Amino acid sequence: MTAATYQYVDLPDASVVTTRTLLTARENITDTVAARAMMCIHGGAGFGKTLAVNTCLRALEPSEDVRKITFRARPTARAVRYELFTALDLAGEPPRHPSEFDRLLKTALAERPRTFLVDEAQWLNGEAFEYFRYLWDEPATQLAIIFVGGEGCHTVLRREPMLSSRIFIWQHFTRLTPGEVLEAIPLFHPIWADAEPDDITFADSHAAHGNFRAWAQLTAHTRTALARTGRPRVDQELLRWAFSRLA
Ligand SMILES: Nc1ncnc2c1ncn2[C@@H]1O[C@H](COP(=O)(O)OP(=O)(O)OP(=O)(O)O)[C@@H](O)[C@H]1O
Ligand SMILES: [Mg+2]
Repeated sequence: MTAATYQYVDLPDASVVTTRTLLTARENITDTVAARAMMCIHGGAGFGKTLAVNTCLRALEPSEDVRKITFRARPTARAVRYELFTALDLAGEPPRHPSEFDRLLKTALAERPRTFLVDEAQWLNGEAFEYFRYLWDEPATQLAIIFVGGEGCHTVLRREPMLSSRIFIWQHFTRLTPGEVLEAIPLFHPIWADAEPDDITFADSHAAHGNFRAWAQLTAHTRTALARTGRPRVDQELLRWAFSRLA
């Protein structure tokens, strides 16, 4: 997969910016995987969690066997078993009986060390979290698990002491500070590379508010405005037009 795969919508020429948060995530993920431990990354929508974990885990592949599981609705333990069956590319039909299913998953997980990336983990309830804990606790499995979720993820996990007490590292993603915006955004996309710092600050305080996804949206609209007007550089008039689409 190319880095662009993780970019918001279609944003040609965007780069992954190595922010302080991304560097911390890299260190945390590397240490979690080395310890065959569990980690939780949580924080607001659009702060760059999914992009960070995918970028960091890709750097560990192929020597590390990484399997991605993303939930889009509240899964039962049964649904978690099916998701794992699919994520592990297991052959044949999924077993019908839970005990048989558990045995199959544990046998597969005992084959070699693996890392699960469980994204959108705020969807998991106690039962689903408990199932991951059960697999992780099994002595034969050498499983590392990275749970990634929105603000609610931390709250849900904290309610599950059996699992949360086993979390090796917690990392909270926050907005870019105004200072970080001035460092990161010129590296994010060429349209900001030669922009006036005042214009970047203007865009951040009026529209993007340190949120990376909002910056990606704003960049897409500003790119369109530059192309339509033929202007060579970003200016406040163009930015105001782009803001009007985000309001
Ligand atoms: N470090 C980064 N460098 C470049 N672009 C980034 C970076 N982090 C985030 N982005 C941009 O912001 C968008 C949103 O990031 P991402 O999808 O990782 O957010 P998220 O925290 O997972 O949000 P959600 O909680 O809604 O899933 C990305 O698609 C990308 O365009
Ligand atoms: Mg995400």
